[in-house]
Amino acid sequence: MPQKKKSATTGNFEPKIVAFCCNWCSYPAADGAGINRIQYPPNLRIIRVMCGGRVNPSFVFRAFEMGADGVMVATCHFEDCHYMFGARRAAENFEKVEKMLTMVGLEKERVRREMVSAAESSKFARVVTEMIEQIKKLGPSPVHKTNQKDQSTGKTKVA
Ligand code: FES
Repeated sequence: MPQKKKSATTGNFEPKIVAFCCNWCSYPAADGAGINRIQYPPNLRIIRVMCGGRVNPSFVFRAFEMGADGVMVATCHFEDCHYMFGARRAAENFEKVEKMLTMVGLEKERVRREMVSAAESSKFARVVTEMIEQIKKLGPSPVHKTNQKDQSTGKTKVA
C-alpha cells in the first residue's frame, strides 16, 4: 500500500535546502563528512561553485523560485580563498541577499552564510543540521505557493 506523502500540514515538513559550496573548502568538507560517516539530514542539494564569490544574489532567488525552502552559501575562510577576494565578495553579496529578502517579505533566517574549511567536516554537518532545524521551524517557503507546475510541460511557472 502506498504511503501518504508527508506534508507541512501533518507536521512532517522536510525542507529542501540548496547549498552553494566552494570547490576548494566547503565542498571538500561536505565530501569529508561523507567519507568520515559524519551524518547530517539528507535535505541538502549541493551546487558546487569554483568560489563563493561566484554566487550572485540572483542565484539565491532562483533557488527559492525553483522550490528551495532555504539557501546556504558556504565559502572558504577569508584568508583561504583561492581567488583572493572571493569569500569577501560572497559576504558582501550575502548582505545584499538579506536586505532583498526582507524587502520581498521572506525571513532572513531562510539564508545562511558559513565559512567552512576543507578540514571542517564536522562543522559542515553541524551548520547544515542547524539550518534544517531552523527552516523546519519557519515552515515551507511561501514562494512555493506562487509557483505552479504546468501539467502539460512539467515546467515550473512563476506567478
Ligand atoms: S575559493 Fe573558496 S570562497 Fe573563494
